[in-house]
Amino acid sequence: MRSIWLYQSRDAVNILNSPNVGCFLSHYFKPRSSQRCSENIGLRIVSNQSFRRINASNLIRRRHISPAVDHLSPGQSDLRVKVFIISDLHTDYPENMAWIQGLSTVAYKRDVLIVAGDVAEKFENFILTMTALKERFMYVFFVPGNHDVWCRRKHEAYGDSVQKLSALLETCNALGVATEPKMINGVGIIPLFSWYHESFDKEIDITGFKIPSLKMACKDFHACKWPSTLSTSSLSLSRYFNELNYKHFDTIQEIKETSSQVITFSHFLPRQELCPEKRMLFYPNLPKVIGSDFLEVWVRKIHGLNGNQSACHVFGHTHFGWDCVLDGIRYIQAPLAYPRERKRRMNGGEDWLPFCIYDSENGGLYNELLPSYWSDYYRTQKRDPRNIELAPWVARFYKRIKSH
Ligand SMILES: [Fe+2]
Ligand SMILES: [Fe+2]
Repeated sequence: MRSIWLYQSRDAVNILNSPNVGCFLSHYFKPRSSQRCSENIGLRIVSNQSFRRINASNLIRRRHISPAVDHLSPGQSDLRVKVFIISDLHTDYPENMAWIQGLSTVAYKRDVLIVAGDVAEKFENFILTMTALKERFMYVFFVPGNHDVWCRRKHEAYGDSVQKLSALLETCNALGVATEPKMINGVGIIPLFSWYHESFDKEIDITGFKIPSLKMACKDFHACKWPSTLSTSSLSLSRYFNELNYKHFDTIQEIKETSSQVITFSHFLPRQELCPEKRMLFYPNLPKVIGSDFLEVWVRKIHGLNGNQSACHVFGHTHFGWDCVLDGIRYIQAPLAYPRERKRRMNGGEDWLPFCIYDSENGGLYNELLPSYWSDYYRTQKRDPRNIELAPWVARFYKRIKSH
């Protein structure tokens, strides 16, 4: 997502490919353990045509009703809960799909996986990905990201992004992928639906440079189709997604009262401090298309105004690996991201994914903060959004654009 407009600029790609910038941007993650098995047991690949047939005839109709409180299946007395997180799978890229298919079919059999949005634009890839994940993990949780509701393909059955969203949720239900809050042996997992709004950005704008408009920079403005009542240029879309969370208000309350550990997750950002300052970004207006204030209200409602030792929120979207504590709540992003971003380790690489954030038999919430470039940087440097002097690599970038 963060490189949304770089597609449009060969210069930008050249600059990002330069070793200096690549080095600066790279996040340096220490893999916690070898969580990804080398064995490669792929799922059965079928042609797109036969896959659509399978999907239509079996998956959609076979509704999987999940109770709000769930336990490990009969015969498994082990009450251990391990929760892994990942976001931004983008499996329309064959490399990313291959990465998913390369995940062990044995190692995670009893575990929980949180997928914080942006699985795939193509519906068949979404189904393939979720099927593969469900074969590997006992529980898979998902919230939709912006790419999941793109509607750019003419032959598809849904008329707009709202219809596509319904189709995605139905498919998840059929596959046994949870999109609603649920408790797994005392651990509450709460998906929070959201969409960004421009007013989320509260920081001073960068001016004096030829910065492309949001419409030019962000593909969502063209790739999503919304009914006339919803628009990205008002709060209506954010409100619409936020309202979806109220459907589960009672379950959320119950989980809050009875869980030993609660993990909330969303695709978009609940706080602007989870993104670098504008002057550091190649697209300084990025904060206008990344977050929702409604999210932080939910996060504080659930985890408490001042947070607590085990309060944790997982997010995605910007493709920056991130791990920090703000006002008593841990915020963490573990993106697979695009292959070219992984190559430059902008997301910290792939060896550490999916990341195990919680293990009931190993101290609960993993309390060591993950080393990641930007959240490490802000651990020692005070954020100063009033400083609008472009970072050197951004200044060079705009100078180069100007000279063309
Ligand atoms: Fe993404
Ligand atoms: Fe996204």
